[in-house]
Parts: sequence; structure tokens; C-alpha cells
Amino acid sequence: MTYETILADTRDGGVGLITINRPQALNALNSTVVAEINTALDGFEKDAAIGCIVITGSEKAFAAGADIKEMQDLTFPQTYLDDFITAWDRVAGRRKPIIAAVSGFALGGGCELAMMCDFIIASETAKFGQPEIKLGVLPGAGGTQRLTRFVGKAKAMEMCLTGRMMDAEEAERSGLVSRIVPAADLLEDALKTARGIAGMSIPVAMMVKESVNRAYETTLAEGVRFERRVFHAVFATADQKEGMSAFVDKRKPDFKDA
Ligand code: CAA
Repeated sequence: MTYETILADTRDGGVGLITINRPQALNALNSTVVAEINTALDGFEKDAAIGCIVITGSEKAFAAGADIKEMQDLTFPQTYLDDFITAWDRVAGRRKPIIAAVSGFALGGGCELAMMCDFIIASETAKFGQPEIKLGVLPGAGGTQRLTRFVGKAKAMEMCLTGRMMDAEEAERSGLVSRIVPAADLLEDALKTARGIAGMSIPVAMMVKESVNRAYETTLAEGVRFERRVFHAVFATADQKEGMSAFVDKRKPDFKDA
């Protein structure tokens, strides 16, 4: 399938790769980009061979935000009737693990898109920010909520109120990104990480994602109860038998996603 604003292909080892491709607009996220990302994700989620997905941009920009030119003339009734931005939430609701590989600007909706992924690997050039206030608006794709959960109230409040950017080092220190890698290695590193995840039992990896996400949605006691039930359930899978037998036999497991 060919797209107008993204590239989507599958890579060795069960990885789906989405590259946002609007260089003339620093990968600003207009409604076509978001629709195409969702179409590509639909395909990867249906494809039993895909175990992990990587979303990336260019060296200069992961994405410089929602498309300001597309938004500037919108009226309140249009945003309300079209439920503007809500389509983005489908990225956060995906069941297979998604890694954001971020180089350059991840601003506004770009930062929000990265935070909808399961974790962020950043190049040393990455810059994160929620500069919407400078446009007379506020983050609209979860920035005030997700950034606060990642970096805490003090930094999130400061970033959303001033629009200042955070570099990769501060982002790693603050818990927004899992790792920093040299810019030249970013994609290869993210693909290798994704291959590693895709090589696990896909249903178990999905259960891990679901369980970790519970930590953001419920109380500790409920979250632990949820984890315990899922942990008990994996003993019904062939992959649990395979994983533990492989350890005891001192060989590599061959998971069948069953
Ligand atoms: N929307 C539309 N176009 C954008 C864009 C955006 N978010 N960001 C950059 N572009 C376009 C510019 O208009 C410019 O196009 P032209 O060449 O046609 O003028 C092109 O990309 C290159 O941009 P710059 O010349 O500005 O590049 P720069 O290197 O000088 O600056 C930047 C880079 C600091 C990222 C600057 O482009 C910038 O501040 N962009 C806007 C960032 C922003 O405010 N993002 C939040 C958007 S609102 C939002 O996301 C709402 C939400 O929560 C859902």
C-alpha cells in the first residue's frame, strides 16, 4: 500500500516500521498523517507475523506538532462536531507494543504522539516540548496528562506554561525517554529493540503492555490483582512451557505465539 504522508513497511524479525514523511512541514501531523498512521497500524495489528512496531520521523523532526495551517481557521463547532484529535487516541489504544524512535523536534502533537507509544528511544538531537501556549491554545492530544505522568508536575507545568523545550538528556533524566543513542544509530537501535520484543511470545508481550498500562489507570491493589490474574493465565499457554523448558534445557526458546 502506498501512502501520501508516511512510509510503512515490514522489517526482518516481525517488525512493522512507520516513517512520518512530510519533510516540507517538519512532519507536522495533519489529518492525513494521522489517518495513514492508523491505517498502517490496523494492518500491523492484523498481521500475525508482526510482534512490534516502530514509529519514527526524520533526523530533523519526529514531528513538529499538529498541523497549524490545517487548524488555524477551525471553529469550535467544527472541532466539536468532527471530534477533532480523537482519532489520535487510536494510537494509544493499540494492543501490540509500539516504540517511538525520536530524532530532532517532537513538539506539541509530535511529543504527544511519541508519548502514546509504549516507550521512546531518543537520539542525542531530540527535543521535546509542548509549545501550544505560544499559539494561544493548549495541548489537545493528551500532553497535559501524559507529560505530567512521565516527568511530574513541576516540569510538565513549566513546559506547558512556557513552551520551553527539553533536550534528550533532560528527557532521559526526567523519565520521558528510556534511552539516548547517537543519531546515526537511532533507527537501527530501535529496529533491533523491536526485533527483540517481536521474538518473544507475541501474546505475552501484549499482556505485558496491558499490565504495565494498568499502572496508569487504576489503584496499586487493583493493578497488582490484574497482573496476578494475567500471570496465572500465561500458564495456559504453550509459550510458557516452551520458555521455561528452553531455560532448563539451556537452549533458545522457539515461541509459537500460542
Ligand atoms: N504545522 C504546520 N507547519 C509547520 C509546523 C506545524 N506544527 N511546524 C513547522 N512547520 C512548517 C513551517 O511552517 C515551515 O513551512 P514553510 O517552509 O512553508 O514556511 C517548515 O515547516 C519549516 O519550519 P521552520 O521554517 O519554522 O523551521 P525552523 O527550523 O526554523 O523551526 C520549529 C523549527 C522550532 C520546530 C518551528 O517550525 C516551530 O516552532 N514549529 C511549530 C511547533 C509547534 O508550535 N507545535 C505545536 C503545534 S499545535 C499542536 O500540536 C496541538 C496539539 O496538541 C494537538
